Amino acid sequence: MEFTLRASCLNPSPSRDSTLAWRRSDPCAEVPSGHSLSARLIRIPLGARPRAIEYVMDTDTSNISVSAHYTGYIWCRHGLAPKEFETARGRNTYRFLSPASALIRAIIGADMETFLVERHKLLDHLLTAAIEKAGVTQVVEIACGMSPRGVSFSQRYADRGLVYVEADLPGMAASKTQLLTQNGWISERHQVQICNILTPSGPESLGHLLNTLDPTKKTALITEGLVNYFDLDTLQTFWTNITRETARFPECRYLTEIYPDFRDHPIHRYTRIAQGVIGLVTKNEWPLHYESDAAIEAGFKQAAFQDVIVHNPDDYRELLSLPKLPYSSFVRVVEAR
Ligand SMILES: C[S@@+](CC[C@H](N)C(=O)[O-])C[C@H]1O[C@@H](n2cnc3c(N)ncnc32)[C@H](O)[C@@H]1O
Repeated sequence: MEFTLRASCLNPSPSRDSTLAWRRSDPCAEVPSGHSLSARLIRIPLGARPRAIEYVMDTDTSNISVSAHYTGYIWCRHGLAPKEFETARGRNTYRFLSPASALIRAIIGADMETFLVERHKLLDHLLTAAIEKAGVTQVVEIACGMSPRGVSFSQRYADRGLVYVEADLPGMAASKTQLLTQNGWISERHQVQICNILTPSGPESLGHLLNTLDPTKKTALITEGLVNYFDLDTLQTFWTNITRETARFPECRYLTEIYPDFRDHPIHRYTRIAQGVIGLVTKNEWPLHYESDAAIEAGFKQAAFQDVIVHNPDDYRELLSLPKLPYSSFVRVVEAR
């Protein structure tokens, strides 16, 4: 695919291997909406004219995968995952981030872990209800990382024949397959596949993944810890793909969490610290999205979801034994159909 970048957007700098490295330093580059804006380095032959160059659409966001080891470690720390989900990368990242976490905790009385546990328990709760009350028998969890949900739900609902498909980028999917295989957790009903939400077609695309599922089953699609790594244009494309590609199922609900841009929230001004920490670890931006619950709902409806419920963990604090906070939660869990 070729796109034209305006020369004024580019800062040339010489590199060692007789090519020029061009760093996209300005968002004015004409990248079509919905495509990843994470392409940072574009190489062109020395002497080539900078007016029209090849734009390599960057769909490799595997830098983010380290965060899955971190969250896997958090699930273990809180008794939400068996110890097998703890990895050296997760443990080391946790230790590396401990001073920043302590600083955040001292300032706001909670840290990233607090909101991770809130979202994870609430997603588990909503998935349980989807299976037990709404008759969902097929689950696909994209960006599964080191989440234990596939294992725990497959075991808990084996008698109902629940099918659970976990999916992630190739490297992470390989690590997860290895973990499940080593521990005897993989089965015909519980598999790991590759899926890159930025890939519009082909074997790594959402469409391909969903084509491998049974179109007669009520289905739930989950992403956790994914959406805030992307800008809204990219998310709208992804969510619209979900509504289009799941239309063939008798029912498909999408469960995800979102960290909103609630400007008047008491901890909003400190979110820059969390963004800095996440950026340092994943080399990726982590933007907040939507300024109210109503805006979240409207955003999902824009992607053609008909029914959207924005859940506030505050409403589940007692039921799910969530930690008490001196202010309202800063995360929302969305259930969209
Ligand atoms: C913060 S981790 C969350 C992992 C897991 N869901 C959890 O909550 O513990 C983010 C995950 O997103 C995956 N990921 C990053 N970019 C992706 C993409 N383009 N498509 C699919 N998954 C992606 C990473 O590999 C990683 O497993």
